[in-house]
Amino acid sequence: MFAATRATTFAAKRAFSTSATNLSKVAVLGAAGGIGQPLSLLLKENPHVTHLSLYDIVNTPGVAADLSHINTNSKVTGHTAANNGLEEALKDAHVVVIPAGVPRKPGMTRDDLFNTNASIVKGLAEAAAKHCPKAHILIISNPVNSTVPIFAEALKKAGVFDPKRLYGVTTLDVVRASRFVAEIKNKDPKDVKVTVVGGHSGVTIVPLLSQTGLDFTKEELDALTHRIQFGGDEVVKAKDGTGSATLSMAFAGARFANSVLEATVGGKKGVVEPTFVQSPVFADKGVDYFSTLVELGPNGAEKIHGLGEISEYEQKLIDAALPELKKNITKGEEF
Ligand code: NAD
Ligand code: LMR
Repeated sequence: MFAATRATTFAAKRAFSTSATNLSKVAVLGAAGGIGQPLSLLLKENPHVTHLSLYDIVNTPGVAADLSHINTNSKVTGHTAANNGLEEALKDAHVVVIPAGVPRKPGMTRDDLFNTNASIVKGLAEAAAKHCPKAHILIISNPVNSTVPIFAEALKKAGVFDPKRLYGVTTLDVVRASRFVAEIKNKDPKDVKVTVVGGHSGVTIVPLLSQTGLDFTKEELDALTHRIQFGGDEVVKAKDGTGSATLSMAFAGARFANSVLEATVGGKKGVVEPTFVQSPVFADKGVDYFSTLVELGPNGAEKIHGLGEISEYEQKLIDAALPELKKNITKGEEF
């Protein structure tokens, strides 16, 4: 009994000292926006974060002052473009999360955001290449299928591209899929894991429902697949011109950022998440970025998994996704 108590106390101390020495700076770019604010709130609660550095072109001093009163163990700073704000925000960052850019309105596709968001993302990539070339970069800004290649090209141009450290955040598709499947199967979503592969827009989003261990009728498969692929449209329509998913995205972004932190500084093993990375899975078909399950480790995206066993139904979805993805990726690379 005594020995067990001592062992527990020791393990608890060791866990505390590991996390205490591995705390780290996380920068959020676009931090005053619809996603940026709740995402920053959730990151303020993350025990791996020592310094939460908030950058936006407007309003970050207020957001930072507000969050800085929360009694968790991280410092919060707010930066705008004035006084080398972007450099200050990025310097020594271990993780950079990017929800900067405009959201959709009803009737728009994510690709319609390209013209505005491509330049925003490119500018942020050039700054990250200069001020935090070793950071893990998590891209939320749409269209993700193109903004990730845009970011990669800017890092390559600066000679600092590490494909293990650049991630398109597709976690919202995974979160939605889990919720939507749980709803129709009357389950707790925490017991429903759905791997979603491909990209992050319409037909490029491919849920692998055959791998959930659940049975679906053809009608259920059609309805769920459509809802997962076009879940973003539901929110855009409901928000009626005022934006797209922000709160669920903040939840998903904070979850993915936590996975990266746990694997890179928390010493956790076996962290596996779908994410849109430079990938060999369909490189032979000219699709250089693809989301599959990726094992995260101290250096980032360390092991990219294949699709695993998929159904004929899912193969058709993949066949439909690849040409669209290739088009989106090329558009980003050529920007
Ligand atoms: P928003 O307009 O509410 O916020 C965006 C913020 O970015 C604003 O505060 C704006 O000032 C800031 N910004 C603009 N240019 C900037 C720059 N150069 N540097 C820093 N900040 C800058 O929009 P939102 O609802 O937060 O959405 C942001 C982006 O995230 C959109 O492109 C949206 O489509 C995308 N999104 C992606 C997912 C996903 O699953 N990956 C989900 C939801 C939304
Ligand atoms: C989403 O999936 O909710 C986001 O990509 C935002 C959008 O434009 O739908």
